Amino acid sequence: MNRRTHPLYRLLAVAFAASLPAACALGPETTDPGSPVVNEVAAKALAHRNNCLRCHGVTKPKEGPTYAEVAGKYRAMRGAEDRLHEHLVKGESLMADGHREDHKMIRAQSDDQIRNLVRWILAQ
Ligand code: HEC
Repeated sequence: MNRRTHPLYRLLAVAFAASLPAACALGPETTDPGSPVVNEVAAKALAHRNNCLRCHGVTKPKEGPTYAEVAGKYRAMRGAEDRLHEHLVKGESLMADGHREDHKMIRAQSDDQIRNLVRWILAQ
């Protein structure tokens, strides 16, 4: 039998399609912190307020690595979000050779804002 037309597969496809509108209806404010949904406007605004973009371009090299480079380095890494979050909150970086370096400490009203920015960086 052709697997594609097997009734069970069709049932699964329908169930999947039905779950999509529910997922899309959730705005960034209503999602839990572990969600990958990113509010880009809020992320950029926070980066602007903290002068992050003075040293980091999304793709344009500046004093710091571009966010595209950061995303490329961390995207596939487990716990990347937590690690970058810690980097920004503590204001230090653990370098490849093991030594720690000062980095700008982020200022934000809430932890969710910081996590949203981290997720936006990881999406570049
Ligand atoms: C004075 C320049 C400067 C500012 C301002 C700055 N950064 Fe950085 N950032 C760097 C440099 C240089 C590095 C690379 C060395 C390091 O990791 O500390 C870096 C590294 C990073 C990394 C990668 C860390 C890693 O572990 O690979 C991220 C993410 C990052 N910055 C985000 C931010 C965000 C978000 C802000 C704003 C709150 C910000 N940076 C502000 C210079 C800056």
